[in-house]
Amino acid sequence: MGARPLPQELIRAKRDGHALDREAIQQLVAGIGDGSLSDAQVGALAMAVYLRGMGREETLALTEAIRDSGEVLEWPSLDLPGPVLDKHSTGGVGDLVSLVLGPWIAACGGHVPMVSGRGLGHTGGTLDKLEAIPGYSVTPDTATFRRLVKQVGVAIIGQTADLAPADRRLYAVRDVTATVESLPLIVSSILGKKLACGLDALVMDVKTGSGAFMPTAQASRELAETIAEVASQAGTRTTALVTDMSQPLAPCAGNALEVREALRLLTGETRHGRLLTTTRTLAAELLLAGRLVDSPTAAMARLDQALASGAAAERFARMVAGLGGPADLLERPGEHLPEAPVVQAVHADRAGRVQSMDTRALGLAVVTLGGGRRLPGEAIDPRVGLSRLASLGERGDAERPLALVHAATRDDAEQAARQLRAAITVADAAAPSPSLVHDVIRREVP
Ligand code: URA
Repeated sequence: MGARPLPQELIRAKRDGHALDREAIQQLVAGIGDGSLSDAQVGALAMAVYLRGMGREETLALTEAIRDSGEVLEWPSLDLPGPVLDKHSTGGVGDLVSLVLGPWIAACGGHVPMVSGRGLGHTGGTLDKLEAIPGYSVTPDTATFRRLVKQVGVAIIGQTADLAPADRRLYAVRDVTATVESLPLIVSSILGKKLACGLDALVMDVKTGSGAFMPTAQASRELAETIAEVASQAGTRTTALVTDMSQPLAPCAGNALEVREALRLLTGETRHGRLLTTTRTLAAELLLAGRLVDSPTAAMARLDQALASGAAAERFARMVAGLGGPADLLERPGEHLPEAPVVQAVHADRAGRVQSMDTRALGLAVVTLGGGRRLPGEAIDPRVGLSRLASLGERGDAERPLALVHAATRDDAEQAARQLRAAITVADAAAPSPSLVHDVIRREVP
């Protein structure tokens, strides 16, 4: 057997625009995981990939190597009566789909081992939202996680040390080397983690619009297509949707406020709106990809039944209680979810219809209020955020505020009010509302 090439030779090959073979990629990812590649080498590799890109075969090999860099969960079919399903989003503002979709899918017969993340930049994170529930633990032991996925059908937790460890290191290096925005690196990072959860099917929500992480509609479409292709080739049937983020998805943004909104949806208090429609569409695609139903009509009927019967709400309540939260959160949310001391209505400078929104700026207003982090590891305030947010096309005037700001202090509320007015354009004529789902890309396992 010949000697293995030096990592610097492999980095040189990528730097010079050559494709790396599977073996080379496995060697590099192993070196990232076990620390034998230095930070300088990881950074140089990330930059070479950023500048030169990767073909489909390379991206697939990178994804599988990241997936296999730690524990890969297995769910013996004798143990679970239904398929193992999951959803992931590229992140947005007021995007609390996961909180609703996980228990909803569980109530339809799926099993959802959802490993979620924290807020990143202007986007909210599912873990931060769940931690607004007193007692909820996002780091249970493996036995509890597996038991909940089996018995309740859903557990939403944080990434464990054993899951795709190569991604943790590579992501940290990318974050400080200007190499985050690379299609093959994003795809392999997202899928490496998700596919380590042993999924039968995945639905991916790729956002587009002013609050999306991808800069253009074309970039969102390309990401969605690549994710659907690569995940399916790696053995997980995947459907990727490109959905709208040109305004916050829910009429609120902020951690406790979004949990409250999830409860409204699950208990039937909210019966329409963009959040419900988008969640229902994603959930239907997941039921189809997971073979729990054989047509879109059957998927919608199953979902509607699971919501109307209270089964989805019951799964959420059991998950919360199973992970240490209060057993009566659904019945008495006001007793458990923390509330901000200052709630202030923000009105537009002039009456008119909401014409456009800088959704990213709205997300950043929540971060400034303390609902997200300015520095890694910073504590966040679960109470703060925005509620009663006006939608595109809606009228704002002396009666109807643009939003209510929930803040820790009056000064914070004033600052957020200024950010809000700057982020929302009000004019005489409203722009047409964008469609909620731009593209649906379904891929089978070859
Ligand atoms: N989310 C991830 O997990 N990885 C990326 O590279 C980008 C978003």
